[in-house]
Amino acid sequence: MKKYSIFDCHVICFPRHKNRAGNITVVENKQELPFDVQRIYYLYDIPGGEDRGAHAHILLQSVIIAASGSFDVTVNDGYNSKTVQLNRPYYGLHIQPGMWRNLNNFSSGAICLVLASEKYNADDYIRDYDEFKQIIKAV
Ligand code: TYD
Repeated sequence: MKKYSIFDCHVICFPRHKNRAGNITVVENKQELPFDVQRIYYLYDIPGGEDRGAHAHILLQSVIIAASGSFDVTVNDGYNSKTVQLNRPYYGLHIQPGMWRNLNNFSSGAICLVLASEKYNADDYIRDYDEFKQIIKAV
């Protein structure tokens, strides 16, 4: 696993086209994104007060977008953490590999859209925080 810090996880502001009623944001591989998208998934119907995430990935990078509503994303590189509120559909938080992430404070009806650099692979997950800390220390 390559070592990244929370300072490598940036909010990307995607372009907005305001040409008619409403807006369009377009996101293309090799244009607005730092990786090629292999998979898209989205979280919705998240009950108030619930958290998601609570894991890290070994290889996978992602960009997390509040397609609707808002929520907070906390990234933790094993040494430092930061919390970013996503509240507009034209912002995406780029999460590098090796980041423990937590998502919470979902507004009612929020939709969390995730653009992922890899296909689903259960072996790429680190789901235990103590194990995560050990792996980070060893890198
Ligand atoms: P998980 O990634 O743990 O969700 P979160 O981190 O948002 O809480 O995924 C929840 C479940 O969905 C888990 O059992 C695996 C399954 N899943 C897939 O089968 N394919 C996928 O692409 C994803 C993201 C999850």
